[in-house]
Parts: sequence; C-alpha cells; structure tokens
Amino acid sequence: MGRKIKIGTLISGGGTNLQAIIDSCANGSIDATILFTGSDNPGVKGLERAAKANIETFVVDYSKIIQAYKNNPNELNVPDDFDLDEIASKQKLIPENTPLEKRDFFLKTRAIAEKQLLDRINSYDMDLLVLAGYMRVLTPYFIDRINVIPNQYRIMNIHPAILPAFPGTDGYGDTFRYGCKVGGCTVHFIDYGEDTGPIIGQKAFEIDDNDTLDMIKNKGLEKEWQLYPLCIQKIADSFFK
Ligand code: GAR
Repeated sequence: MGRKIKIGTLISGGGTNLQAIIDSCANGSIDATILFTGSDNPGVKGLERAAKANIETFVVDYSKIIQAYKNNPNELNVPDDFDLDEIASKQKLIPENTPLEKRDFFLKTRAIAEKQLLDRINSYDMDLLVLAGYMRVLTPYFIDRINVIPNQYRIMNIHPAILPAFPGTDGYGDTFRYGCKVGGCTVHFIDYGEDTGPIIGQKAFEIDDNDTLDMIKNKGLEKEWQLYPLCIQKIADSFFK
C-alpha cells in the first residue's frame, strides 16, 4: 500500500457501489480516498451513506434545472464558455436524425447542470471521477473540462451488462428480456458516446432458466461490488508506478 489516489464520486440513487468503495477505502484494500459525493438527485440513500462516512456531499438537481429552462429559457444562461456548435459536433449521444431543437435543448440544459457540477468538483484536487450508479449522461462540455491531461481518461463508470452488449439505462433488464444465459457488469472509462469508452474490467455470472429479473440484479450487484474497487485499484497502481 502506497500513496492514495483522490477520487470524487457521483451517484443518483441507493449507492450500494459507493458503499463498496467506501468500505474498500476504509479497510485499506484499495489505495484511494473519497473527496466528495455528488448527486443529481436530492434525498437519495447514497447521500446518507456518504454523510455517514464523513464524506462531503452536494446536489445538482438536474430535474429542477431542466424544468426551469422549459418554463423560461431566458432565466437560465448557458455557461460563458459553452459553444453549441463545438459540443454538437463532438457529442455521440444523440442520433443524427433528432430534430435540432430537441438536440439543442438537451445540450444546453445539460451544460447548465454540468457547469454547476464542475464548479463543485473544481474546488477539490481530484485525480479520478468515479460514476457509481450515476444515471445522467455526460456531454463533451463536461468531459473536456475533466479530461484536462492529454491522452488520460479521468472519468470511470460501472455499467450493468457485459459491454458492448446492452448499453443504455437498463442493462440487467435488457439482459433478462433477451434471455441471456450469462450476465455481467463492466467498468469502463467515459468517452463521448453512451457506454462506449475503453473497458477497464468485467465480471460475469450465470443465469439459470428460472431466474427472475430481481435475481439477476442481485447477482449482478454482488459482482459490481467486487469489480469496482478492483478497477479503482488498477488505476491507483498505474498512477503510482
Ligand atoms: C448499478 O447496477 C449500476 O451498474 C447501474 O445503476 C445501479 C446503481 O446501483 N448504473 C447504470 O445503469 C449506469 N448507466 P447503486 O446505486 O446501488 O450503486
């Protein structure tokens, strides 16, 4: 055990992955320390878990921001350094045939929220940003302002499927409905696409014929709790090599 990497965490919900990371930091099985936990969702259990572990928390309430912009677009300004054409040309989240108005609404509202996230995150000296059940996609506006070291990814994510199968918001549901006999989870870096960045680690589990969706989720989460700390340690090792 040597020096520790300083990680920031973002969550949206229950935070069982966050708990696994908190526990691994506390028992010394990974060389990491958590600087903060941010959420797009107020009042979630994951924020309580963080507070209980004496981790600083903050909320950027995306739903509120999106609703406020819908009600009155003039009341919320996009960030001064937001260039719509640049972000639109880089992003790989929105299909090309999407109406421009819809695309622009999405990119502008996300940039407003992402600027608030950046303002909070930038007050910490962070090495790595860990998405632990964070259910918002991140646009190039945010990614470029975190990945400031050339050729170094700095945002990692856990996804509930064996990528590249079943990207999106319901990995275990998609695995179940397809009738797969193996499921799994993936930790990967974030790039401009949805769940497309370089893979850091994966774990798989068998699915029995009678398994329900809940059983698949439970099997998957158990694998996630093992995989995420291992992948963070992999990055810590590469940091201090
Ligand atoms: C986990 O299954 C994680 O893989 C998934 O959300 C769940 C969060 O659980 N993440 C995604 O789907 C990201 N697109 P948790 O809040 O208990 O860690």
